[in-house]
Amino acid sequence: MAKAKKPIIVVTRKLPDRVETRMRELFDAQLNLDDKPMSQSDLAEAMKAAHVLVPTITDRIDAAVIGKAGDQLKLIANFGTGVDNIDVKAAHARGIMVTNTPGVLTEDTADMTMALILAVPRRLAEGFEVLEHGKWDGWSPTWMVGHRIWGKRLGIIGMGRIGQAVARRARAFGMSIHYHNRRRVAPRIEEELGATYWQSLDQMLARMDIVSVNCPHTPATYHLLSARRLKLMRPEAYIVNTARGEVIDENALVRLIADGEIAGAGLDVFEHAPAVNPKLLKLARAGKVVVLPHMGSATIEGRVEMGEKVIINIRAFLDGHKPPDRVLPSML
Ligand code: 8YV
Repeated sequence: MAKAKKPIIVVTRKLPDRVETRMRELFDAQLNLDDKPMSQSDLAEAMKAAHVLVPTITDRIDAAVIGKAGDQLKLIANFGTGVDNIDVKAAHARGIMVTNTPGVLTEDTADMTMALILAVPRRLAEGFEVLEHGKWDGWSPTWMVGHRIWGKRLGIIGMGRIGQAVARRARAFGMSIHYHNRRRVAPRIEEELGATYWQSLDQMLARMDIVSVNCPHTPATYHLLSARRLKLMRPEAYIVNTARGEVIDENALVRLIADGEIAGAGLDVFEHAPAVNPKLLKLARAGKVVVLPHMGSATIEGRVEMGEKVIINIRAFLDGHKPPDRVLPSML
């Protein structure tokens, strides 16, 4: 008997070896071993043949690309939790399901958020710079003093999985937890985290020592931290973003930090990534900003688990079940 043909799965970027090996066993996996990002026309071409597309944040799966999909393509299984790289509405309109990988990168992203919460006030990057340039003459009581974290107010924007994981960590560092979210979280969670809910983002911003962005990028959160809102922050306050650059009006942030109206920022994401505003780099050299190249979920454990989630979603779908991590337009 002829062997049944395996479904074609096009994976747009190189994934951890373990994930690729398993994908090869299960599917007709078309992998990107050179890890060269695909152009819009490469993506459109892939959509014509694939049964499932596995994109990442670096692929823009817009309505034009989706419009090129062949009838066989029924699932876009994103390798990543944020789906702002995909026009989910256009996919659904064409009968294509979208899944993501929530949960498995929560702790890693929260760790990186905590690292950035510490990095700017405690001047970690500046300290390294001094050593690297051989400029350390020895300890002094008044040199390299930063600001204390313990006892400060942390305002979390977006109290989903990652926001809550950040809150848990920050509590252990002696911070008081405040949050703004579309919906108030369950009383049990507020109690566990000792978290105060602010219905008004404006009012919360005006009172926080550190603000952490942990919400997804959707049309509703684009420039949520607008110039007007950023101006509400205290001049001693810091801002940390491990979510998406688009949530902050980056030009306004740069201006306010340069003018001393906000103390500084720790940023893992940028509005026009991978391009980074040169003015931000200048502020980084001045010790006001710490910048990282989107490393929040970059642990091998996290990336393997993301791959496993992708496989689970694909298999459930191919077996005729509802994949566990479906993303519906109404969720965005
Ligand atoms: C991912 C992320 O690694 O999952 C997300 O939303 O922001 C990242 O940390 C990236 O998006 C992979 O596509």
